[in-house]
Amino acid sequence: MSRYPVRFSQWLFGLAVIFVTASAADDRPPDPAISSVPNLAVQACVTCHGPGGNSQAGAIPSIAGLPREYLRQVLRSYRYGGRFSTIMGRLVQAYSDEQLDLLADHFSQQPFKRHKQRVDWDRAHEGRQLHRLYCRECHGDVNRNPKPGSPRLNGRWMDYIRWTLQDYLLGISQADAEMSDALARLVRRHGEQGLESLIQYYGSARPPAAPAAE
Ligand code: HEC
Ligand code: HEC
Repeated sequence: MSRYPVRFSQWLFGLAVIFVTASAADDRPPDPAISSVPNLAVQACVTCHGPGGNSQAGAIPSIAGLPREYLRQVLRSYRYGGRFSTIMGRLVQAYSDEQLDLLADHFSQQPFKRHKQRVDWDRAHEGRQLHRLYCRECHGDVNRNPKPGSPRLNGRWMDYIRWTLQDYLLGISQADAEMSDALARLVRRHGEQGLESLIQYYGSARPPAAPAAE
């Protein structure tokens, strides 16, 4: 748990960045989809998760365009257990399950915007192979939709994915049995290096089809 303070301070830093950028975005036209959920509730979420649910900082996940069923489920697991969190576990207590479902529906309909991240391309190429072998079946990729209950991983913030994977490996977050198996097999065969390659792949937009010439 020693990484907790680091993670939390990064998160605070992210929040400061968001407050600065959010004020610049205030004159955007109102989003028509917001009318189906209490506007105030949506506003509370975008303070951290960024305009339309697209986070501006790697410590906070973007929630725009994630599958509806997945969003509903993960919000429940913050409340009832199963998912480790620094913030969300306490935050969801302020909402009913019905309100959280509406918020999940709302954010699932927002377009996902990818942020450019600095990537190690050799690693990303290896990660692409590993993803095909161990993870693509459920999580899809740039050309393939994920299974209904699984979140997309391509284009997500690398810091967030890195911490979330560590939470599963430490056992403070519980994945379903098949996902745990896939992760355990990956780490047994390819170690921390393999894990980092996957993360670099997720941070990349479209990794090259073949490794760069030596
Ligand atoms: C104070 C900042 C903050 C606010 C406000 C906030 N979140 Fe979060 N959210 C986080 C952080 C940080 C995480 C990563 C988990 C953690 O450590 O709590 C997260 C994770 C999530 C996830 C999981 C995403 C994934 O990829 O699995 C969802 C869904 C989510 N938040 C939805 C919401 C909704 C809906 C609201 C509004 C009711 C909201 N959040 C408000 C900071 C915030
Ligand atoms: C059998 C299907 C399956 C396989 C295979 C699988 N996953 Fe998952 N994964 C899921 C599901 C379902 C969830 C949502 C679980 C939850 O709520 O915690 C998930 C969640 C995640 C998350 C959290 C995403 C977020 O937005 O918070 C990460 C990261 C992840 N998986 C990475 C991987 C990696 C890396 C592999 C390959 C080594 C993999 N998964 C293999 C089904 C799968």
